[in-house]
Amino acid sequence: MRKDPLSFLSAELDSLKQQGLYRRLRVLESEPAARATFDHKSVVNLSSNNYLGLTTHPKLVNAAREAVEKYGVGSGAVRTISGTMAMHMELEQRLATFKHVESVVVFQSGFAANAGTVAAVLTKDDVIVSDELNHASIIDGARLSKAAIKVFPHKDVDAARQILKELPAGQKKIVITDGVFSMDGDLGRVPELAALAEEYGAIMMVDDAHASGVFGKNGSGTVDHFNCHGRVDIQVGTLSKAIGVLGGYVAGSRNLIEFLYHRARPFLFSTSHPPAVTAACLAALDILETEPQWIEKLWDNTRFFKAGLQTLGFNTGMSESPITPVIVGEAATAAKMSDALFDRGVFAQSIGFPTVARDKARLRTIVAATHTKEDLQYALDTFDAVGRELGVI
Ligand SMILES: Cc1ncc(COP(=O)(O)O)c(C=O)c1O
Repeated sequence: MRKDPLSFLSAELDSLKQQGLYRRLRVLESEPAARATFDHKSVVNLSSNNYLGLTTHPKLVNAAREAVEKYGVGSGAVRTISGTMAMHMELEQRLATFKHVESVVVFQSGFAANAGTVAAVLTKDDVIVSDELNHASIIDGARLSKAAIKVFPHKDVDAARQILKELPAGQKKIVITDGVFSMDGDLGRVPELAALAEEYGAIMMVDDAHASGVFGKNGSGTVDHFNCHGRVDIQVGTLSKAIGVLGGYVAGSRNLIEFLYHRARPFLFSTSHPPAVTAACLAALDILETEPQWIEKLWDNTRFFKAGLQTLGFNTGMSESPITPVIVGEAATAAKMSDALFDRGVFAQSIGFPTVARDKARLRTIVAATHTKEDLQYALDTFDAVGRELGVI
């Protein structure tokens, strides 16, 4: 009998269980909506990045359906062989106009956009100056590039300056921040870091995954929110969160995009989006431009829910966005609280190490434009009851 060469994984899994870090996947059995059914239970869903409710918007659904009927279900190849469809080009042009940049390239996901871009643009001789809480896809791209990675403490512009100051003048370097940090919901120091990048001749990059569809005019992102047009060389966005579908994109100069067409490995070596995805993304852009009520409702719900959690006495950290963490400390407590909330009809996923620091386990909540005030009040009442029972408040 062959010994299982993966048997060591059992010990790893046992260790996760002991630390309260082992999570069973919750299974969605309905549409991914503000109220949804997971594991046979109807819950107020506070765990989705579907900020604007577009995952189920009839215009996106119809666009996807029509695209399937007209073009089939797959693109058949990577973009650089025969997988570039006219609608892929149309989406890139629409996104470029939306972001006020020369050009855009769409990737299969935001993860692929970040990792593929950082790994393509930087080499082993370069330096990456990165906020400590930047997304994993930036970190993986940085590792793939083999560039030196210099991490500055979260949002510490002075520390970033110190790193840049110590680099030789001719050194190729990039400053990278998230626009909105995905686990804390606070905003990156985009204007201050852009000023530093200008002063020290660095490339400036912002990952706006959680700002796309949320911040800036019609949801065009933090560069617009901070009025930093022309000062950020590489903007990454996703089509998977507020846009409601799937994908990521890089917005910047024509040269940058042409370079990525030739060197970004997920673009070169992985099949392009199927027609339904691209058509639905195009419909989502129409909605961002013509139905401002969704972003207004998102922010109205955000203010209501965040203020409610704070009044109850929860630690919501430094959030400035619809992502509101409820920080409880121990991973086991966060998991217990998440399960207790779920049993009473509220889904707020617990997040522990390595996604957040070991002592900062939390429940990560995100409201959507499509939650009703009754949904949110019910969630607040349930947080109140469970928080008291577990001694969190
Ligand atoms: C900050 C940030 N960047 C990038 C991504 C990746 O986006 P996608 O889900 O489209 O791959 C995420 C999603 O988890 C994110 O939170």
